[in-house]
Parts: sequence; structure tokens; C-alpha cells
Amino acid sequence: MDNFTFYAPTYFVFGKDQEDEAGKYVKRFGGTRVLIHYGGGSVVRSGLLDRVKASLDKEGLWHTELGGVKPNPRSGLVYEGIELCRKEKVDFVLAVGGGSTIDSSKAIAAGTIYDGDFWDFYQGKFVEKALPIGTILTIAAAGSEGSPDSVITNENGMFKRGATGEGFRPTFSILDPALTQTLPPYQTACGITDIMAHLLERYLTNTKEVEVTDRLIEGLLLTMIHEGPRVIADPDNYEARANIMWAGMMAHNNSCGVGRSQDWSSHNIEHELSAVYDCAHGAGLAVVFPAVMEYVYTHDVMRFAQLAVRVWGCSMDFADPEKTALEGIRRFRAFLVSIGMPQNFAELGADAKDIPAMAKCAVWGDGRSGHIGGFIQLSEEDIVKIYRSMV
Ligand code: NZQ
Ligand code: ZN
Repeated sequence: MDNFTFYAPTYFVFGKDQEDEAGKYVKRFGGTRVLIHYGGGSVVRSGLLDRVKASLDKEGLWHTELGGVKPNPRSGLVYEGIELCRKEKVDFVLAVGGGSTIDSSKAIAAGTIYDGDFWDFYQGKFVEKALPIGTILTIAAAGSEGSPDSVITNENGMFKRGATGEGFRPTFSILDPALTQTLPPYQTACGITDIMAHLLERYLTNTKEVEVTDRLIEGLLLTMIHEGPRVIADPDNYEARANIMWAGMMAHNNSCGVGRSQDWSSHNIEHELSAVYDCAHGAGLAVVFPAVMEYVYTHDVMRFAQLAVRVWGCSMDFADPEKTALEGIRRFRAFLVSIGMPQNFAELGADAKDIPAMAKCAVWGDGRSGHIGGFIQLSEEDIVKIYRSMV
């Protein structure tokens, strides 16, 4: 196992109706003037926004609001949010929504107290400080409620980049599984796929002897394989939603990723797709991840065979472990299809003519220098081949 430090100070509040206590937690973490940030309207329609405002009012907290975060959140609204926070002397950002809303909130929280352009953070500058952020999560997917990361689409060119730093860990996150019951099945499945992808990015490691994190990842993947189909069949299944919601947090706050190298090439290859075609991040990953696995598995056949046996229930073919490794990838793909995820470029609305430009963008600029990936280094040429295998 590699050396590591791990500091994940988010205070989690889990369970039914806990969002009605939002004001209490904002106060506990020092907020007095609050920006409530939200998306395209699901929290207005469900009545959640009104409940959150009532909870802030109950604690006597001043608040203003900014809605309109789009999935694959855009830089333009971040600039607007920063201006608003400075004008109103906001000292706490409360995200009510999914990963896109939380990521936009993080960008606003860091940008408000930074002298330069907030995009500097998305070009590799570490986020040490931001206004305190609280989250009320409405979809189990991105894991931003516990992660030190944020992903924003730059509208000046439509490309996506991530920023990271301890300043981005939310001070508190409220996770009420019941809030996710209004999700359409497709969006639920996108979330399930993203959670599995966060686990698999960490599973693709070159670090030896990482049994504890391997087993945590495998356990969470098995949970998703069990609960995913249950929640697709019965969207009101609170217990299945609860397990998925906590798995989504565990998958990405890095408790499963410490002490080991990680890959992240699938995420970077996907981010080009969701930036250019505005598809859901999870749907893009459903197409990208199996394709990347098929491209890289020969680098460590036994790691893929282990995954196939422990997670996908394959029998180990000792004479031909490659067969076992490939069967695991086949079962992963079949699982994604069974929950309604796309399989190829056409189903994503992507066009093969954009492949050269996307491959270039994935490896150059904003702190990148020709390669991505921690499992094996992928070049622009490799990425072109991977994209072509999805057409
Ligand atoms: O905008 P509203 O109207 O709220 O609708 C949203 C949106 O259309 C809807 N939705 C959310 N909760 C709902 C609901 N609809 C009905 N009922 C509910 N309870 O779902 C749609 C998708 O929301 P979004 O926030 O975009 O989803 P998700 O959480 O999957 O976030 C995706 C973003 O996170 C980034 C992705 O790149 C993408 O931009 N990621 C962020 C990470 C991080 N910060 O650590 C890591 C991830 O790997 C990922 O890259
Ligand atoms: Zn993701």
C-alpha cells in the first residue's frame, strides 16, 4: 500500500425528512448570509426548495437564491453566482440538487473569495479555501456531496475540466433517500453507472497488496448489482434507494481509493462526450468504461480476472485467465444494458466526425501534457482508437 493522508471532515446527516433541519446545520457551521443554489426546477416542483427556505427562516438566516444550473454545469452561471455572493456578502453556499448543482456551488464558493479567475482552479490550481458549502442531495450519482472535486463545462469552447482541493469538501451534507424517489428511471440508472465507474476507476490500480480497498470496492459494486435492478423495478423502494445513496458517497469520498494508484482515463474520455453532446455523465460512462477496459485489460489480466470472479460471479479459467477477464467485462456491459444504459455513440447522440478533436482536447491543455490515465498512460492515438471502438 502507498503512503497517504486522508482528511474528509464532512458532517453527514442521513435519513427521512432531515432536509427540514438544514437551517440548524447552516447555523452550526457558521453561516449567516446564505446563497441557495439549485438546478432546472425539480426542487421547485417537488416543494423541496420551499421547505429548505422555511428551515432557514426558522433559524433567522438571511438568504438569496440562484437557480438554473444545467446538467454538465456551465461557467457562465458560476460567474453570475460569484458576482451575486460578493454583492450580497454571502458567507455560506447551500447546494440543493445533484452533482451539477453541488459542483457549481463549489466553483462559486471558491471563486467568491479568490482574486483571480475561478477557472484557474480548473487548470490545476489546488483549492485551499472556499466559502463553506452545505449540500442537500437529490440524486445518488456524482458523489460530490463527500468529494473534494468539482467539474465545470467551460462555455468558451465547450470542454469540461475538474478542480480539486480540501476547500471543496462540503462542511455538511444531508442525504435523504426519499428525495431521490422522484428521479426518472434513466437518471437513476445514470447515477448507478457513475457510482460503479467511481469504484472501477480506483480498482484499476498498479499498486500491489491493497486487499482492504479492493474488498471495499468489490463490496460496493456487489451492492450496486443487487440494489440497481431493485430500484429500477420499484422506484419507491426506500431501502434500495438508501443503500445506493450511501454507496454513492462511499464510492467517491476516496475511502476506497487511499493508498493506491487510480486510473480516471474513462472519466476524462467521457467528459469530452458530455461537454460536446450534453449527454448525461453516467450514460457516457456506460459507453466509455467497457470500451476502455477492453483496450487496457492486457496490462494486468489477473486484476480483471479477479474482478470477474469476485464481482461478476465468473469461474476462474486457470488455463486461460484472459477468457475470464473478458467474460467479466461482457457481464458488466450486459448489466448496464439491463438497467437501460446506452451502448454506443449513436445511442448517446455522438458523431464519429468529432473523434479527432475530442481525443486532442482530452490530452492537451489545462494542465495536461499529452497523456491521461493512471493504469496505463493513454495517448491521443489510443483515445482515437477507443472512441472508434464505440461507434
Ligand atoms: O436540474 P434539475 O431540475 O434539478 O434536474 C436534474 C437534472 O436534470 C435531475 N434531478 C436531480 N435530482 C432529481 C432530479 N429529477 C427529479 N427528481 C430528483 N430528485 O437530474 C438531472 C441530472 O442532475 P445532475 O446534477 O446533473 O446529476 P449528477 O449528480 O449525475 O451530476 C452530474 C455532474 O457531476 C459531474 C459530472 O461530470 C456531471 O457534470 N461529476 C462530478 C464529480 C465530483 N464533483 O466529484 C465526480 C463525477 O465523476 C462527475 O464527473
Ligand atoms: Zn463520475
